[in-house]
Amino acid sequence: MRLNGEVALVTGGAAGMGRAIVDRFVAEGARVAVLDRSAAGLDALREAHGDSIVGVEGDVRELESHKEAVAQCVETFGKLDTLVGNAGVWDYSTALVDIPEDRIVEAFDEMFSINVKGYLLGVKAGLEALYASKGNVIFTVSNAGFYTAGGGALYTGAKHAVVGMIKQLAYELGPHIRVNGIAPGGIGGSDLRGLRTLGLADTSISTVPLGEMLTDILPTGRMATAEEYTGAYVFFATRAEIQPLTGSVLNYDGGMGVRGFTEANRGDLLDQHFKMGATA
Ligand SMILES: NC(=O)c1ccc[n+]([C@@H]2O[C@H](COP(=O)([O-])OP(=O)(O)OC[C@H]3O[C@@H](n4cnc5c(N)ncnc54)[C@H](O)[C@@H]3O)[C@@H](O)[C@H]2O)c1
Repeated sequence: MRLNGEVALVTGGAAGMGRAIVDRFVAEGARVAVLDRSAAGLDALREAHGDSIVGVEGDVRELESHKEAVAQCVETFGKLDTLVGNAGVWDYSTALVDIPEDRIVEAFDEMFSINVKGYLLGVKAGLEALYASKGNVIFTVSNAGFYTAGGGALYTGAKHAVVGMIKQLAYELGPHIRVNGIAPGGIGGSDLRGLRTLGLADTSISTVPLGEMLTDILPTGRMATAEEYTGAYVFFATRAEIQPLTGSVLNYDGGMGVRGFTEANRGDLLDQHFKMGATA
């Protein structure tokens, strides 16, 4: 139990990556507050974890929602050690040319208000509690925080902005509060939704054959599940092991960035070599 006695607040903790983080943090001994707009998702969390979690229904675009979540977290569990900014939406890789002129301003505002402002407001609301606990912040980024084609310009721009915020906040808030990011690639088990402005609010990423697509792309050979991503969140939240860690973002994407010009290496080279009885 590597997070015994720790208290976390996770935004978007009612589904996908956030839900897996909550499940893992509780299993590691933490108590967790969750801010999410899904009442049904929060009910399911309460059913699964009882007194180990407190669920707050709200919208990450509103400062008041974050303040309420922090207040309930501190009231219930006495403190806040780790804030995980995680709630997000996707643009389903909509190209600029396909975003209608009469919706682009609203689409931009929707993307940045959830994926960027939603993270910043969480830190603003949690600042005093995090200062008191000498705590830390973890933002879920994405491969789109580094590379193209993991989204359209709206999503890629927003995730790059998150990387910038991590660096600036790590600088501003140190040495009291650490700020880091984790950048997953495709997440198995996610229910990631699209922008309402583009008519994608009810579209789930589970309808995209992401697993198949990534098999040909990732040097690790397959997309990871949400559960398989949680180890890094535990590590980043573990006080004893992160003395030198702030302002960093972990590329946690199956090696997307090292593939470069080619398809993924499917292991043929080493298979052919060693299956023929050769030695290194
Ligand atoms: N799914 C992927 O393949 C993938 C890949 C890389 C990064 N990410 C990132 O992971 C994070 C989590 O996404 P996910 O894939 O788990 O999606 P998800 O839809 O499965 O979970 C997101 C949760 O956030 C909540 N949420 C969304 N907007 C909200 C708002 N305005 N206010 C409050 N709650 C809100 C939803 O209700 C949901 O419970 C996001 O930041 C996303 O950009 C996802």
